[in-house]
Amino acid sequence: MGILEGKRILVTGVLTDASIAFSVAKLAQEEGATVVLTGFGRLSLVERIAKRLPEPAPVLELDVQSNEQLDTLAARVGEHVDGLDGVVHSIGFAPQTALGGNFLNTTWEDVATALHVSTYSFKSLAVACLPLMKEGGAVVGLDFDATKAWPVYDWMGVAKAGLESCSRYLARDLGPHNIRVNLVAAGPLRTMAAKSIPGFKEFEDSWPAKAPLGWDLSDTIPAAKACVALMSDWFPATTGDIVHVDGGVHAVGS
Ligand SMILES: NC(=O)c1ccc[n+]([C@@H]2O[C@H](COP(=O)([O-])OP(=O)(O)OC[C@H]3O[C@@H](n4cnc5c(N)ncnc54)[C@H](O)[C@@H]3O)[C@@H](O)[C@H]2O)c1
Repeated sequence: MGILEGKRILVTGVLTDASIAFSVAKLAQEEGATVVLTGFGRLSLVERIAKRLPEPAPVLELDVQSNEQLDTLAARVGEHVDGLDGVVHSIGFAPQTALGGNFLNTTWEDVATALHVSTYSFKSLAVACLPLMKEGGAVVGLDFDATKAWPVYDWMGVAKAGLESCSRYLARDLGPHNIRVNLVAAGPLRTMAAKSIPGFKEFEDSWPAKAPLGWDLSDTIPAAKACVALMSDWFPATTGDIVHVDGGVHAVGS
């Protein structure tokens, strides 16, 4: 019996089979969950990728900048499952001008887009799913350690710092609903989102050498395992927390 047996899980953020969300969906199914996916924009691509999962999973459209799509999400998810036990936020975006060493020149409009999609949406998604989580459950988001100013990560780093704070406030406000809210802070992984960061190679070159456990830039399974574990019954009293899945880089000096 898997650790998500009988659980109903919504997974956002599948774009390719390299997406962290793809591994989360795959492992969740292998651990017994019923999975519903959301995709943004290229839905036919997401549907094609979804076919590579062990079980077929419906794909619903969700642009977290669309209030209409957020307002109808619970009803649309409710056509496939009678409730949710887990929600995975695996969404991030920042305009090119907000990344890559342009920190001092980025306009508010571009910063606002990064914060809307990457930070505020954690709250929007959780609240949109609340009507389906009557028995409680778990919300998990994907983070990149925001305690430091990294090379090239720039306003995405600010967005992740906001995500970490947002997660704690959500934990405070959703705890009374018996909903746990946690983040998985992954090390760098070669996904579409990472490839769109100019200078991402700086992370690729240094991370594996710095990590006490080593680090495989192409392996999304360790981060996905942490997401699945946090949605299971094995973290019943953990909320507002950040689990680092980075080979240990956060723990050591460079
Ligand atoms: N790749 C890394 O190095 C790394 C490390 C730590 C954390 N993360 C985080 O993991 C999460 C998933 O990213 P990934 O690396 O798997 O890359 P990815 O490109 O596969 O996934 C990013 C997802 O965000 C979605 N998205 C973008 N704008 C959206 C919008 N307006 N509405 C809804 N969805 C939208 C995209 O469709 C895509 O599915 C992100 O939060 C990212 O910041 C990534």
